[in-house]
Amino acid sequence: MSGLVLDGVVFHHDRTPFRFDLDVRRGEWMALIGPSGAGKSTLLDLAAGFIPPAAGRIVMEGRDVTDLGPAERPLSMVFQDDNLFPHLTAEENVAIGIAPRFRLGRRARERARQALDEVGIGALAGRRPAAMSGGERQRVGLARAFLRERPVLLLDEPFAALGPALRREMLELLRAARARRSDPPTVLMVTHHPEDARGFCDRVAFLEDGSVRAVGETEAMLGGSAPEAVRRYLGALPQGAKPAP
Ligand SMILES: Nc1ncnc2c1ncn2[C@@H]1O[C@H](COP(=O)(O)OP(=O)(O)O)[C@@H](O)[C@H]1O
Ligand SMILES: [Mg+2]
Repeated sequence: MSGLVLDGVVFHHDRTPFRFDLDVRRGEWMALIGPSGAGKSTLLDLAAGFIPPAAGRIVMEGRDVTDLGPAERPLSMVFQDDNLFPHLTAEENVAIGIAPRFRLGRRARERARQALDEVGIGALAGRRPAAMSGGERQRVGLARAFLRERPVLLLDEPFAALGPALRREMLELLRAARARRSDPPTVLMVTHHPEDARGFCDRVAFLEDGSVRAVGETEAMLGGSAPEAVRRYLGALPQGAKPAP
């Protein structure tokens, strides 16, 4: 079964047309790469239900969710901007992932604290976002998403603002969270850094000009024999981001 399918999904931003076909296997961790403006965030927003497609179908875990709102879809999403409530503590920000804000019971708080422990910031449970670093805030966002244990996890450049070492640490956290689940989530992760996919993602999808141009195993997509459009894109990146020759 597929975890997430976009089947002929059409959308227009003003006059820019997008048409997406993508099939993410159930339990797979897929990276979504491509030039800025290619439509990566648009694809995720369509999958999440934040914007409605003009045509096509979106299927999650075998169920057509095209007409469902974001909250009714079996997913969590993490953005680059951490999306935390500034007036809530880390623990509360995580707990609202599984309980309404006005009913944060002891059980929800305990589970939130455990989730914060798992991402290494249990000691900051009582802090508000303003008193945390960018990396710490992203950990809170991840803890919230992990705690929800939804079948599909959408990540829109969640670690883009972090340095290479921290990004790697975040990817390790995600890997560990997946390993803890008997039924790992289907993950679609937008990243600016193709090297994020190496060693972590099963497959890579390449987006250009509003559609998915290529999908393949990570090594095949990022190595020397990558499709030409992908190589062109990778070649345009700074030296450090190039694939090994
Ligand atoms: N809210 C919007 N209104 C109009 N155009 C938009 C909007 N959001 C994005 N776009 C356009 O759609 C294109 C794709 O955007 P986006 O999906 O954010 O790309 P990516 O995430 O790959 O950088 C951009 O070129 C942008 O001009
Ligand atoms: Mg984007």
